[in-house]
Amino acid sequence: MDSYIDLENITTEELKHIDLDRVNVHCSPPDFEPQRQYYFMAKCRQIVKEENERLDRSLTCSVITFGCQMNARDSEKLLGILVKAGYAVTDSEDADFVIYNTCTVRDNANQRVYGRLGHLNAMKKRNPHKKIALCGCMMQEQNVIETLKKSYSFVDLVFGTHNLYKFAELLCAMYESEGMLIDIWKDTNTIVEQLPVRPKYSYKSGVNIMFGCNNFCSYCIVPYVRGRERSRDAREILREIESLAADGVKEIMLLGQNVNSYGRGLSDEISFAGLLREVEKVDGIERIRFMTSHPKDLSDELIGVMKESGKICRHLHLPLQSGSSRILAAMNRRYDKDHYLALALKIRNEIPDMAISTDIIVGFPGETKEDVDDTIDVIRKVAFDNAFTFQYSRRTGTPAAAMEQVPQAEVTRQFDRVLSAVQETARERAMLIEGRSLPALIEEVNEKDASLVIGRLSNNMIVHLKGTPEMIGTIRTVRLTECRGFYYMGEMEHG
Ligand code: 5AD
Ligand code: SF4
Repeated sequence: MDSYIDLENITTEELKHIDLDRVNVHCSPPDFEPQRQYYFMAKCRQIVKEENERLDRSLTCSVITFGCQMNARDSEKLLGILVKAGYAVTDSEDADFVIYNTCTVRDNANQRVYGRLGHLNAMKKRNPHKKIALCGCMMQEQNVIETLKKSYSFVDLVFGTHNLYKFAELLCAMYESEGMLIDIWKDTNTIVEQLPVRPKYSYKSGVNIMFGCNNFCSYCIVPYVRGRERSRDAREILREIESLAADGVKEIMLLGQNVNSYGRGLSDEISFAGLLREVEKVDGIERIRFMTSHPKDLSDELIGVMKESGKICRHLHLPLQSGSSRILAAMNRRYDKDHYLALALKIRNEIPDMAISTDIIVGFPGETKEDVDDTIDVIRKVAFDNAFTFQYSRRTGTPAAAMEQVPQAEVTRQFDRVLSAVQETARERAMLIEGRSLPALIEEVNEKDASLVIGRLSNNMIVHLKGTPEMIGTIRTVRLTECRGFYYMGEMEHG
């Protein structure tokens, strides 16, 4: 074998390309990142290799994602590390190493995880090599950890959102320890760059621009489980986007709980609008999306940048949560009905082809029929292109959990009214572009009919058209021939 590599002497840039089989793991690990994590990837690689030889097959792994785009991106990072550690990737929960990357924004997400863990345990009984790990937002809750210790002791590794970058180190520790290994941090300021990623799609990618949230909306558990807001250095973000573009990625989605407050606390003064201007300059990137905007922080500067841009997609996700000023105050949203309406209508005026989608919560403590009337009034006036409507879920530890709750029957009744209103406006908005020819990024082959491919328009609508797998990842002009409610049938324009 060639000589050993000592990671102490390897620069961060070089790490991506080193042969992990040559890394010296007989010395102590480096005490700086990300070199330290590459040391543990190399060490895991040896453990996996020995297991593969013993079993005469390849150990498999699978990462199951619950929740939002942030979690999806985190899962790509976990898979990046697992691939470096030598696992073969599968989609099946039958894998030798299964990790659930959990969400806890609403309680039904937690219940789903508990339910599925029972099945994993049955599989583990049949496969003695099977290891089970849990990570993500749900693990940052104290009561969850207590439940796991008491009733799910077959889980091998539990970690949270703040130490995800240490996954390789935790993986090694798991193989070296008996029983459940739990490592949860309350908070951190550390952002570790240059860890491996295994992308799910070749043509589009999420890019984290910030982590955490400082808003403390009274119903929301996110600030407690994701910690305080931290922005990533703009140079690191741009370097990552340039490298994605070099790999053929056409569309990026900038990710943060509250992207409009990007840049606070960084040594280089930069706003989100300023960052977007820089991202726009990256050659090869043809589409830019971002999630999520908070209505209280969306600046005129940002509206101007979106209007001028040839790359920023014509889709803005702008969570309303409620149309009632009284409920918005109780939610600690820091805007009222008039502010939201004025902002949404300004965007509609400035950029008429911009689709606006939203999130709405029904059944927040104290919400009356009149409050819901206000929500429906905003829905009709803004005419949302799409809306995610949620029933309020009581989250332990949030201020709203201690408030007087609305009876479930009433929540269901009001929820149905809101749902009908958003379906109505979404249908009306969709109809507006029938007959037009618009660019669509072709994303995949239609699962039900292999002669069709699925494209995504700039406004985030889906169009089905005749096509072949070679078209995936290309942007084609598609004529929208028939509106089918929330999606389109179309035909590719030639020439
Ligand atoms: N109950 C219901 N919906 C919630 N959301 C956040 N917290 C809760 C909760 N406790 C919704 C909000 C947010 C979206 C991601 O999830 O609408 O915008
Ligand atoms: Fe939760 Fe509000 Fe932060 Fe969104 S902005 S993550 S709803 S606290």
